[in-house]
Amino acid sequence: MELNILTLCYLIASVTFIVGLKMLSNPASARKGNLVAAVGMAIAIFATIFLYEEEGKKLGNYLWIFGGLLIGTIVGTLAAKKVKMTAMPEMVSLFNGMGGACAMLISLIEFNHLAHQIQETGNEDGHTGKVIIIVLGLIIGSVSFAGSMIAWGKLNGKVKDFSFTGQNILNLVLLAVTLGLGAYLVYNPAQSFLLYIILSMSLLYGVLFVFPIGGADMPVVISLLNSFTGVAAACGGFLYDNKVMLTGGILVGAAGTLLTILMCKAMNRSLKNVLIGSFGGNKTVAASGSKDQGAYKEISLADSAMIMSYANKVIIVPGYGLAVAQAQHICHELEKILEEKGVEVTYAIHPVAGRMPGHMNVLLAEADVSYDKLKEMEQANDEFKTTDVVLILGANDVVNPAAKNDPASPIYGMPILEVELAKNVIVNKRSMKPGYAGIENDLFFQPKTSMLFGDAKKVLQDLVAEIKNV
Ligand code: TAP
Repeated sequence: MELNILTLCYLIASVTFIVGLKMLSNPASARKGNLVAAVGMAIAIFATIFLYEEEGKKLGNYLWIFGGLLIGTIVGTLAAKKVKMTAMPEMVSLFNGMGGACAMLISLIEFNHLAHQIQETGNEDGHTGKVIIIVLGLIIGSVSFAGSMIAWGKLNGKVKDFSFTGQNILNLVLLAVTLGLGAYLVYNPAQSFLLYIILSMSLLYGVLFVFPIGGADMPVVISLLNSFTGVAAACGGFLYDNKVMLTGGILVGAAGTLLTILMCKAMNRSLKNVLIGSFGGNKTVAASGSKDQGAYKEISLADSAMIMSYANKVIIVPGYGLAVAQAQHICHELEKILEEKGVEVTYAIHPVAGRMPGHMNVLLAEADVSYDKLKEMEQANDEFKTTDVVLILGANDVVNPAAKNDPASPIYGMPILEVELAKNVIVNKRSMKPGYAGIENDLFFQPKTSMLFGDAKKVLQDLVAEIKNV
């Protein structure tokens, strides 16, 4: 009877994961989706703790289990409450690494159980399937753990980009040898010492694989490592014949893979280019945009306030700089004050604006900007030609026309917001420095464009004050 309730709990949990994931695809339901899946996970955890039985015995070890749960809950809650939006990829990386470490530890423990069993019975046969899963879980989990730790270190500035000639070849050789040793262990599971060699080599591979990747490409790599962790967890599900672990692992693996592909597509870069391109890590790519582009024009706060107040339609383009400045709340205030003056205000959201998927949506949602004001790229591109003013706030690459006009540019082919179709373009940033891709932006030198220099938050505060006086 209890086993049936357990199965039912697992089924409910699996359904909540799927429903939660679906709800995450819309900003309006994302928060609830997260909660739904979290409730499902809680059901799965507590059902396992209290209902799971093996050979008529319950799990026991409650002090250890609840001690771990308590520490994990406190650390997780505090970390999630404290984290800044711009540090979110960093935290995701750390948490993802913990998932990889779990899969790695499960493999180590289960192999030891199996080795004892083989020693006691003297029978090596009939374990092939189990050893394959253990070895796969170990390799993938360790790579994900070590890679995520390096990604975390890079994002918080503690680990610097590091590469040397032949590194990619060394990585390939290391991977091939690790897989080869894994295959040998499957064939001969009595050689249990090999497990620790495989573990060490996988950890080393995880470190070396992430080291050369440009720091700013980390969100893509984290998404890839996230899919690795999902697959490693699914291995655990196979191992324990635990359906909910299997479903959860497969969902994470598939979602991570899709997200990786979508991010690469939105940047028009292949995964190979992300993995071995060192793009955004060092700024040597700047050379391709360093031609003399002539003079740019500055605009005062008073003039900006004037043309925005008398506009019919204004589109705001948020970018990474808006997130850095934490200017989302004052941006929402600007929107409201313009609307009071009869101006139509919407936002144009580029799929990779900022530094993580959905960055701008989350940022603006935090400031209570209504979801129906957020226009996706295609829709916004249709609307620019009927727009009086485009106000760009800390965005750069996502509005760079070189992506359309300059085949030599590293971002050539990346879909962009075609802001130059609007009547006036006001760009707020602090200087003429390039953005993530390290290239200059022709847009800033076009006759329609005016630069409004300064920190986004300060500029918006002053702009709101000016508009109130118009
Ligand atoms: P960026 O091209 O990085 O440009 C951001 C601009 O914000 C910079 O030029 C910077 O200029 C300005 N800025 C920084 N701090 C500011 C502040 N306090 N106030 C005002 N401006 C400030 O950003 P984007 O246009 O959002 O493009 C995103 C880039 O990241 C793309 O190249 C994309 O491919 C890449 N990327 C995105 C993702 C995801 S999933 N979103 C993942 C990996 C990579 P100043 O220094 O002159 O102020």
